Amino acid sequence: TGLVTLDTGFMNTASTTSSITYIDGAAGILRYRGYPIDQLAKGSNFLETAYLLIYGELPDAETLEAVERRIKRHTILHEDFKAFFTAFPSNGHPMAILQAGIAALATYYQHTLDPHDDYQRELSTVLLMAKVPTMIAAIAKRATGLPLLYPDASKGYVEDFIRMTFGLPYQRHDIDPAVVKALDMLLILHADHEQNCSTSTVRMVGSAHANVYASVAAGVGALSGPLHGGANEAVLEMLNKIQADGGDASEFMRKVKNKEGGVRLMGFGHRVYKNYDPRAAIVKEAAHDVLAKLGKNDELLEIAMGLEEIALKDDYFIERKLYPNVDFYTGLIYKAMGFPTQMFTPLFALGRLPGWIAQYREMIADPTTKIGRPRQVYTGAPERQYVPLDQR
Ligand code: CMC
Repeated sequence: TGLVTLDTGFMNTASTTSSITYIDGAAGILRYRGYPIDQLAKGSNFLETAYLLIYGELPDAETLEAVERRIKRHTILHEDFKAFFTAFPSNGHPMAILQAGIAALATYYQHTLDPHDDYQRELSTVLLMAKVPTMIAAIAKRATGLPLLYPDASKGYVEDFIRMTFGLPYQRHDIDPAVVKALDMLLILHADHEQNCSTSTVRMVGSAHANVYASVAAGVGALSGPLHGGANEAVLEMLNKIQADGGDASEFMRKVKNKEGGVRLMGFGHRVYKNYDPRAAIVKEAAHDVLAKLGKNDELLEIAMGLEEIALKDDYFIERKLYPNVDFYTGLIYKAMGFPTQMFTPLFALGRLPGWIAQYREMIADPTTKIGRPRQVYTGAPERQYVPLDQR
């Protein structure tokens, strides 16, 4: 049916209209529903930003309180999940377990699977926002074998997530408000990023009218890749390796530029930002603040800054317009907060959750949505005749 256009990797093809997030890659601008990211990072909190992304407007105090109360009523995870999580090897990657866990929500909340039904759509939104932090904390505990904590509705959303992740029964665990604030801000920075790989995946799966849990689980799978959300973990592994090899950043950079073994400077480059990633600038400042507040003097931060300094002056990076992206400095903050490296990408998933939900809902609400079905340019054999096995 006519000629198709080949656009590998969607370099220049829009897959949808959207009124959620605006990016101007050349100018380094990112806005959620019109609000500049730096204003939200400074003034908002994660739940308020989640509401903004999903419903389009900032909530008033009463609405925000009601939303928070509703989410808190649903934070407990079905007890079966304890057994479900122990069915995986304890060193299995948390992203794989999270993907399975989110997909499994569809089996426990079968009365919330129809996104075209107002009641079901609203309840599934609340259930996801409520249960995913509890699930991530449970997965973190599963990796160490330490006992789980139940959610505490008297605590703030982010504070309780930290408490469940690190706290132990009958032991006092003081949570530094500066850590809560910093993590809340990082979740805001990750909350949406228009049609990136995982969000496009969520929309693609949802375009077949698959339920929101199946769609978000697929998004988690996409996010786990090292070119996408998995980059935050890969950055720390890269920094660790440079440190272990004696801390020589220039030798590592030589390999990157010669493309030896496909080595990339992880946490650098972006499909859309060709000037700078506005999130990276905020994260870099936060990395200095948080490490100083926690009294952590991480040599890896020095190595990271050294890599950035070399890259920003180097023709290879300048010509290709490669700058630090959101993942370059986040891992250093998560590490200083005490998160194990494998938990970094689940933190990205928690941040991106409201964006996935908002984009799924926007797609479902749009009467012009069609099932996602890209075309292809066939490059295989022309027609040929089948040869029976005994004649081959
Ligand atoms: N280190 C070294 N070279 C790079 C890098 C890098 N990080 N990123 C791109 N290049 C080179 C690439 O080799 C190519 O060179 P040439 O023109 O000689 O073939 C050129 O720059 C263009 O790269 P591309 O792969 O065609 O660009 P893309 O838009 O398809 O990829 C990207 C974007 C983010 C996947 C890529 O920059 C990358 O792999 N970065 C490292 C992984 C990373 O940090 N990902 C996180 C992205 S931001 C948050 C998120 O999405 O989760």
